[in-house]
Amino acid sequence: MKVLAILYDGGKAAQEEPRLLGTVENKLGIQEWLTSQGHELIGKINSVHSLMTFSRQLPHSKEGADSDFQKHIVDAEVLITTPFHPGYLTRDLVEKAKNLKLCITAGVGSDHIDLNAAVDHRIQVLEVSGSNVVSVAEHVVMSILLLVRNFVPAHEMIERGDWQVSEIARNAFDLEGKVVGTIGAGRIGYRVLQRLVPFDTKELLYYDYAPLPAGRCLPLSKLPILTSHIAAAEAEFVSQCDVVTVNCPLHEGTKGLVNEELLKSFKKGAWLVNTARGAICDKDAVAAALKSGQISGYSGDVWNVQPAPKDHIWRTVKNPLGGGNGMVPHYSGTTLDAQARYANGAKSILENYLTNKPQEPQNIIVGIGKYESKAYGQR
Ligand code: NAI
Repeated sequence: MKVLAILYDGGKAAQEEPRLLGTVENKLGIQEWLTSQGHELIGKINSVHSLMTFSRQLPHSKEGADSDFQKHIVDAEVLITTPFHPGYLTRDLVEKAKNLKLCITAGVGSDHIDLNAAVDHRIQVLEVSGSNVVSVAEHVVMSILLLVRNFVPAHEMIERGDWQVSEIARNAFDLEGKVVGTIGAGRIGYRVLQRLVPFDTKELLYYDYAPLPAGRCLPLSKLPILTSHIAAAEAEFVSQCDVVTVNCPLHEGTKGLVNEELLKSFKKGAWLVNTARGAICDKDAVAAALKSGQISGYSGDVWNVQPAPKDHIWRTVKNPLGGGNGMVPHYSGTTLDAQARYANGAKSILENYLTNKPQEPQNIIVGIGKYESKAYGQR
């Protein structure tokens, strides 16, 4: 059996830090185990071989007709990818991947796979649900604070050797008393709201078609003003928020959701944080809204193409006062703590597959021939 893992070249950092598990160098920590399992498997099931091929995350290797990805996908049975440096499994590639049975996302968010094509071709797609949701929620809280408090320009001023407090303070606010809303209140969105309770915001709102995660309702005394806006249009929802945080998966219903039209409904000067997926926000519309001051800040770690090109406008675009940009590379969900969890989770999904054990239901995005998760759009 061939297991193809698309990881990225971690270079010196990965050689020095073995806990950087999502890299080619450290191979999710499963190569040894898989090889040892392979020997065992050969003993138990005749002529089953385990071959693990690691593709370096380099443009020539990940994309294009002669890439390692395209070369190996044709006969791979299992594909492991991380969302941080994804190999994009398009319908075209799904059609070429005649042996493919299982895609494992080492992390959360499987939009780099054409999920409808996986349904049609009876390829299962599993992710390690919950593995990095705290990591992302913490990053969202940090991002909200750094925008609202105008942190990045303040730090840059200090590095430059300047000291002009008024330049920073003219656009710095408290989070207390503001309205914060999340589009998507699943594992991450809910945890963001939970973490914001002590900030005494005016309101914490959510917009989702699903109820809050089971067993996760905070006692009302702690969260008296959580309001559901399930039936409300996105425009009505964002118009009430000082801060909007995006925490839904990327699917047909959310691609370009935050576009020129919706941005007009934002409160003037609102802050927008997107750690969900870059393509949920329209690149040029967000840049224009920030540049014009329609929104005061944009922050997040996800990009419509990853790695983002050097001249991607989100790297440098600023508000009229020269701040409001909190963009970083895609790392909120790949802290060392998160890597340990998603590497273990990917291993156990693979182990279940190899030993014919049932998979954890919450990890199954696409089962055989159908969506099992309700998070990737209402169907
Ligand atoms: P989840 O499945 O627990 O929650 C997602 C929620 O979004 C669900 O409640 C779903 O009903 C809702 N939703 C879907 N479509 C919607 C729409 N059109 N409008 C409003 N709500 C909608 O997923 P989880 O764990 O909270 O992760 C959410 C997303 O965050 C992932 O799919 C992934 O794209 C992203 N993510 C980013 C990471 C990073 O490192 N930046 C790491 C982990 C996840």
